[in-house]
Amino acid sequence: MKNSRPQAANYFPRDRAWHPQAYAPGYKSSVLRAPQRPLIAFANTLSETTGPAFGHDLIGPLDNDLTLNFAQPGMSAIGERVVVQGRVMDERGQPVPNVLLEFWQANAGGRYRHKKDNYLAPLDPNFGGCGRTVTGDDGTYAFRTVRPGPYPWPNGPNDWRPAHIHISVFGHAFAQRLITQMYFEGDPLIPRCPIVRTINDPAAIDMLVARLDMDASAPMDSLTYRFDIILRGSRSTLFENRLEGN
Ligand SMILES: [Fe+2]
Repeated sequence: MKNSRPQAANYFPRDRAWHPQAYAPGYKSSVLRAPQRPLIAFANTLSETTGPAFGHDLIGPLDNDLTLNFAQPGMSAIGERVVVQGRVMDERGQPVPNVLLEFWQANAGGRYRHKKDNYLAPLDPNFGGCGRTVTGDDGTYAFRTVRPGPYPWPNGPNDWRPAHIHISVFGHAFAQRLITQMYFEGDPLIPRCPIVRTINDPAAIDMLVARLDMDASAPMDSLTYRFDIILRGSRSTLFENRLEGN
């Protein structure tokens, strides 16, 4: 974990070097996707800054259990059972309650349930690959899933994504959505990944790696990985979007 970057007590300026450059030739699709001209900022409208508000009543009983939420009755997804848990915090380490988290991932074989994913690995009929939850009053969250498999992608001659889970963090308005990816401690594919390698600061990468927490793991059931999400400030989780904000 970091952090050595200086900051005043009550002001947390955005460190733009924390994010990868939009143009990163090693990540092939960034070449055409990177803006060619300076960005234009639009002022938010009222509807973007005031809603929606998410409450716990939004969440169904299985929404935070990807092993069951698309499974047939009495069945469950195939794969290594894991629980991911952590806290959503602000720049001062204070918990952020009532935050909607959405997550999506490949199945244990490394394949997404998506019509454009034609990887050789089979689909799991009992695994949909997405779920959601809302943080509690103490900012904590947890969801159960299976560890996603790594998968190859057509970037270089032989590029593979490490096992990862995509996570979306909704703020209190549509304009506050943040998206990141979580990796698993000890995965040798992390430093080989062209997307990870667009991140310059090793500390930023380190904060995207969930830690195995044996003390929190459930014996004879599942391993637990801990992944805290920090919304901004000098310890901010690295998010893929919202580079234009402050
Ligand atoms: Fe992915």
